[in-house]
Amino acid sequence: MKKYTDIYDISNLDETVQQAIELKKAPFSFKELGKNKTLIMLFFNASLRTRLSTEKAAKNLGMEVMVLNVNDTWNLEFEDGAVMNFDTTEHIKDAAQVISQYADVIAVRAFPSLTDKRKDESEWILNSFINYASVPIINMESATGHPLQALTDAITIEELKTKKRPKVVLSWAPHPKALPHAVANSFVQMMQQSDVDFSITHPEGYELNSDITKDTPIFYDQFEGLKDADFVYVKNWSNYENYGKVLCEDTNWMITKEKLTAAKFMHCLPVRRNVVVEDAVLDSENSVVISQASNRTYAAQVVLKHLLKELQL
Ligand code: CP
Repeated sequence: MKKYTDIYDISNLDETVQQAIELKKAPFSFKELGKNKTLIMLFFNASLRTRLSTEKAAKNLGMEVMVLNVNDTWNLEFEDGAVMNFDTTEHIKDAAQVISQYADVIAVRAFPSLTDKRKDESEWILNSFINYASVPIINMESATGHPLQALTDAITIEELKTKKRPKVVLSWAPHPKALPHAVANSFVQMMQQSDVDFSITHPEGYELNSDITKDTPIFYDQFEGLKDADFVYVKNWSNYENYGKVLCEDTNWMITKEKLTAAKFMHCLPVRRNVVVEDAVLDSENSVVISQASNRTYAAQVVLKHLLKELQL
């Protein structure tokens, strides 16, 4: 693995998931691998889990870690050939090369604008780092994907499944604010690569990018969609066609105990209680959100381990 910017950077998913589960049993067993290596994490947006779990993963491997909240530094220019006589101070071409002098691996979090679909889908921030940095790049959630979260979710399902091919459903849920498509996109891609019976349920008109969902079955009736599910992954996303708009706040789509029956409840967190999901679900034994949060460390660790091994070659 030379980078981890989308789930397709994993060459053998089953093997990678099993390696993550092994790392969880012995997290310090590769402590020498990251010795004298530095991870720099760049945050254009807020984070709790990604920030802490990725740092923990790097330290488990013996790495040094530096964190930069990018909004605290110079205002970056991303446009090629820009005449920088306004409010941008440093070009990404220079910044990415400079950061590469201090880092062996760079991890980037940069959310979408949700106002300019074309620009968001070009992944202009993440791709600038891929283009101009001279070290491997990790995506810590970009405009269109959250591959570390998706790997975490695959690990969690593998650990908790009670049948060979569980039924996994991604359900839209209401939210008062416009949210990105990244978590849902990467989860869909990950489930398409996994040995699961996968489908999506959302209100009509809330289709994700069809280039990503492809032929995944979609149910507009949430009760029908959730029937006999073993895992229900819940996530809000804003409208994709009317890009970034909140057109539906249908509270009937909130996940309740009655809807979930015996299924495990999954969510990437943070979650708005009693808007997305009621307390009775989140506080029940069926909720696996804390296990997911725990697995964020081992998803990041297995990715870093692969990148560090590649650096040794
Ligand atoms: N799930 C997730 O990425 O959490 P943070 O936004 O807190 O990092």
